[in-house]
Amino acid sequence: MHKTLTDGARQQLPPDRINCFRVAPSRPVPNLLQDARSGLLERPRSMPPKYFYDDRGARLFDAICDTREYYPTRTEDALLQQHAREIIDLARPDHILEFGSGTSRKTRHLLDACAGLNRPVTYWPFDVCEPVLGEISHALMQDYDWLNVRPLLGDYHAGLDALPVPEGSCLYLFLGGTIGNFDSPDAHRFLKETCNRMRAGDHLVMGADRVKAHAVLHAAYNDSDGITAEFNLNLLKVLNRGLDADFDPGRFSHSAVYNAAREQIEMYLVARERHQVRIGALGSVIRFLDGESMLTEISRKFSLESLQAMLTAAGYTLDRHYQPDNGYYSLVLTRPASVRSEV
Ligand code: SAH
Ligand code: TRP
Repeated sequence: MHKTLTDGARQQLPPDRINCFRVAPSRPVPNLLQDARSGLLERPRSMPPKYFYDDRGARLFDAICDTREYYPTRTEDALLQQHAREIIDLARPDHILEFGSGTSRKTRHLLDACAGLNRPVTYWPFDVCEPVLGEISHALMQDYDWLNVRPLLGDYHAGLDALPVPEGSCLYLFLGGTIGNFDSPDAHRFLKETCNRMRAGDHLVMGADRVKAHAVLHAAYNDSDGITAEFNLNLLKVLNRGLDADFDPGRFSHSAVYNAAREQIEMYLVARERHQVRIGALGSVIRFLDGESMLTEISRKFSLESLQAMLTAAGYTLDRHYQPDNGYYSLVLTRPASVRSEV
């Protein structure tokens, strides 16, 4: 079907040389050094989650998705598989732009539906992890010879103004429950910014994890093979490299606990003993107490009500809500409430 790349120069490049378009920040975002200064030098210590995703981190995350305990991926995968045709039929996209696309595993159901419905689309994966973005774009172009792939490299917290606005209708994707990794103000800002970009006929498909039995939530972030622990501890290696630091992963342990009052999983790295860490780039030595923790991620869980309220507040109206029988996960098809859909 749709084989032509509009960018003639790129068409002549071999597919393994796909260039990622660098999305310029539309507002300043702190760099690693600034995040480390505000997150590590003061208590309680914390780091933003985007630093998890170096090459090794991205691959570990993919392995988490295959663990027996981590139900969100396979639940969302099944929902997408089941409803992809209806989603594509309702959204009628010319473009699919995915925030935090990772390995784009589940997105393949939507691409398959596009093929089945004879709808050529351009796929715009947007991620902060360059090696995976390049590799996946290459793989997708090989597997879907009709597909135009335009990888976007950048930080979705830095604003969306510099994202290309292509002609035609756009289906935005935000999968994996990643919206839960944003605190409430950031989630609101991000959803609103996305909504403001959207034109008549555009849609957003988003996955969100739901509140459920604490044991199920706890297990999902404490898999028995220790992959989540490895993923969490990998952050220390990223910090060592980027900050000329000497974190010893052996002196920390992974902890993920469900905070029922806040309806969120909280992921920590906990010092196993009292010790010091040198942070060369900050010219500082920081002291960890025995048992002191550093927050590395939150993962908020939603009720139908809190999910609906978040979407409404950001300007969306719900077209479809999909969930499994056990209500473990929500996949929503939404669009801006104030823009009349042309569909
Ligand atoms: N959507 C995939 C991956 C989820 S993991 C899935 O459902 O399985 C979160 C993804 O978001 C990772 O690929 C990570 O590299 C990316 N990411 C994390 N922080 C980001 C940021 N600030 N800007 C852009 N991408 C980010
Ligand atoms: N979006 C995923 C979630 O909240 C991210 C995630 C899964 C994660 N497991 C993790 C992040 C372990 C940090 C550590 O479920």
